[in-house]
Amino acid sequence: MNKLLVTLLLLLTVRLAYAQKIVNNYDEANVGTFALPDPLALPGGGRITTAKQWEMQRASWLRTFQETMYGYTPDKKLTLRFQVVETKHDALNGQAIRKRINIYVTEYPTLLPIELVLYVPKAAKKPVPVFVSLNFVGNHGITAEKDIPLSERWMRNSPDTMSTPAVVKNKANEWARGVQTRRWPLEAILERGYAVATAYYGDIEPDHRDGWKIGIRSMLGDTAKANNWGAIGAWAWGLSRMLDYLETDKLVDAKKAISLGHSRLGKAALWAGVQDTRFAMTISNDSGEGGATLTRRNFGENVFDIHKNNSFWYCKNYFTYLGHPNDLPMDQHILLALVAPRPLYIASASQDLFADPKGEFLSALNAEPVYKLYGKAGLGTTVWPRPGMAIGNTIGYHLRDGIHDILLYDWERFMNFADKNL
Ligand code: GCU
Repeated sequence: MNKLLVTLLLLLTVRLAYAQKIVNNYDEANVGTFALPDPLALPGGGRITTAKQWEMQRASWLRTFQETMYGYTPDKKLTLRFQVVETKHDALNGQAIRKRINIYVTEYPTLLPIELVLYVPKAAKKPVPVFVSLNFVGNHGITAEKDIPLSERWMRNSPDTMSTPAVVKNKANEWARGVQTRRWPLEAILERGYAVATAYYGDIEPDHRDGWKIGIRSMLGDTAKANNWGAIGAWAWGLSRMLDYLETDKLVDAKKAISLGHSRLGKAALWAGVQDTRFAMTISNDSGEGGATLTRRNFGENVFDIHKNNSFWYCKNYFTYLGHPNDLPMDQHILLALVAPRPLYIASASQDLFADPKGEFLSALNAEPVYKLYGKAGLGTTVWPRPGMAIGNTIGYHLRDGIHDILLYDWERFMNFADKNL
């Protein structure tokens, strides 16, 4: 089919779908029934019964997610250059060694670097496990330390009503320091013997429709293609490049690297953990629609919202399913299953209804059959736990009482799970 025809068909499908747009449903009674695709079904009939068979099928499920949802991450081999800009031996009041590293792609000299900051507990006697996670606000926003340079990248403006507007004309200013320290309890994480590696997600691609024009997707991929990678693909790519660096740093144990993210960055962390099996563990916090939760479950955010506000996060093919998610060849429990047999943790928040916390739990539950092939138990219950309980082995889950956020409470449970599983 020629490109014009494909575009016309896509427009037609989207129009038809909008004509029957379903409003966001928040009533369990209106969720309706749905049948999830079986991750263990074999294309020619019959069912997978062994881990070995699953491993033969896995690539085909991965392709389904690439073709239908996130797009293909280009597999061109790139050469990276790591520039250590700073090593500070008494960061966080002497608790940490802090390193700042710029990651350049040699093939694309005009591409701005990923500016990574790494915090390692100074007391560590040996290389430590490391959380690899993008941040929403720039590295200067995750710590109260004043000596991290303000990121100069594009950022979303602060609301006009804010008395301390941290971002004006899309640039961070001094007000922006430490704005998200509550999400990054560095002292508590380091105290438990974990390192943290983070970078601003906009270093990889600014989070707006035209952001790709200055990011890696302007260099790699083909925007005309309906299966070209979206911004989530780019951010996941960035997490893998951070891991490339970490593999060269003796302070951390890169064999114990944990891909972690909140919300849209939880979607990216999942996609990174699925594609890059070097990540020993994957954590999604409140990642919701197009992340951990089931697309077929009509509760909270739906694909219409994603299409309207953030379609550039996914590939175009995804939106051919607008209004009829039951026709998707997969659902998100299969994405979660693609992490198997490596440990996976899904966290929800009780008031984060837009992300459909129960759908996130059910998704994790329905990933279990694949973990069971490896003799791994999973959640250990079919009942959605009440807030405040952390459950599961190899697949972990908790529901925090509260709103859409990532807090010390969540980190503590992630670390308990990592202590057990790594
Ligand atoms: C929006 C978006 C969600 C996303 C969230 C976030 O609400 O619709 O899909 O998870 O932002 O990243 O905070």
